[in-house]
Amino acid sequence: MAELANLVHPIALRSLTLGNNLVMAPMAGVSNLPFRLIAREAGAALAFTETVSAKGLVQGGRKTWRLLNSSPREAPVAFQLFGSDPEIVGEACRRLEGEGAVWIDLNAGCPVKKFIKNRAGSALLCDLERAARIVRAMRRSFSGTLSVKMRSGWDADSLNAPQLARIVVAEGAELIAVHGRTRAQQYTGIADRDVIRRVVKAVPGIPVLANGDVTRPEHVFEMLRETGAAGVMIGRGAMGNPWIFEQTLALAQGRQIRRPTPAQRLATVERHWSLIERTFKDRGSLIVQLKKYVAAYSKGLPGGAVFRQAALESSDLDRILDLTRNFFSELPRAA
Ligand SMILES: Cc1cc2nc3c(=O)[nH]c(=O)nc-3n(C[C@H](O)[C@H](O)[C@H](O)COP(=O)(O)O)c2cc1C
Repeated sequence: MAELANLVHPIALRSLTLGNNLVMAPMAGVSNLPFRLIAREAGAALAFTETVSAKGLVQGGRKTWRLLNSSPREAPVAFQLFGSDPEIVGEACRRLEGEGAVWIDLNAGCPVKKFIKNRAGSALLCDLERAARIVRAMRRSFSGTLSVKMRSGWDADSLNAPQLARIVVAEGAELIAVHGRTRAQQYTGIADRDVIRRVVKAVPGIPVLANGDVTRPEHVFEMLRETGAAGVMIGRGAMGNPWIFEQTLALAQGRQIRRPTPAQRLATVERHWSLIERTFKDRGSLIVQLKKYVAAYSKGLPGGAVFRQAALESSDLDRILDLTRNFFSELPRAA
């Protein structure tokens, strides 16, 4: 037990300290304000926004700025930018700081073709010089916490995350997050903890967040033990399952963990819905958000598939809400 307690701890950075070392990963189309608040309320010390275009921000795109909709209740929050032009990414940082940002992250991991074509995301693993120039420009124009999230390498023959980590730290990055998969792997295979361990070794004194395939509290402890990382970043494992954060904290404090009761599930679903209602105004977005999150919360629960089919094929907001409330109110105690 004492060992588990030692594995969960605060992370001290130059200008702020995270209360613990459990962090919510950036997920495009998922990590919006309600989702981040739910993760924070469940115990995550920090949440990342979904990735946004530095160029879009600099050009003043309203849609792009809307993606960064934040609230003081989630402070600090890490805004994640993608881009390939050092000047533009630097300028985006300057503007974000003007809007109160205290943490900006560079996306050096996204494997999507559109990103790669624009030399952004995981393409930076193939162009370390560009990555260095981008982080240098970010550091010059931003005084808050600067981090870089990367994949383990481009492919199995090029596991160069340790090298990229050293380079961006030399340019002023204060924290590294590493997903233990290559670009070539996309989301297949399993996250490679050995590369993450090598990143940790490559940047002594710099906190590294280990990421990939953490879906249960036990995985958090395994990941921390095996990699020596300062913390863990959780993505898909927290979708529809924010309890992973509080369960991990409970285990670290020597408490038993229990599956959430039906009443807890219902309360979280209602809480999440109330946050969505406050954040999204038009009916179309409300329906999209509601469908997305109830699908995640019902995964693996008895009757979940039938419920999802009915909820997802409806385009009537009130009906989807009724189905949702009925489903979560009538869950058997053992669910
Ligand atoms: C739907 C989805 C969207 C994602 N969007 C982003 C993103 O915007 N930026 C980013 O750095 N990583 C993104 N990722 C990658 C995750 O942050 C994370 O690195 C990956 O899912 C592995 O962690 P996990 O196994 O805990 O999910 C995304 C992943 C998913 C599944």
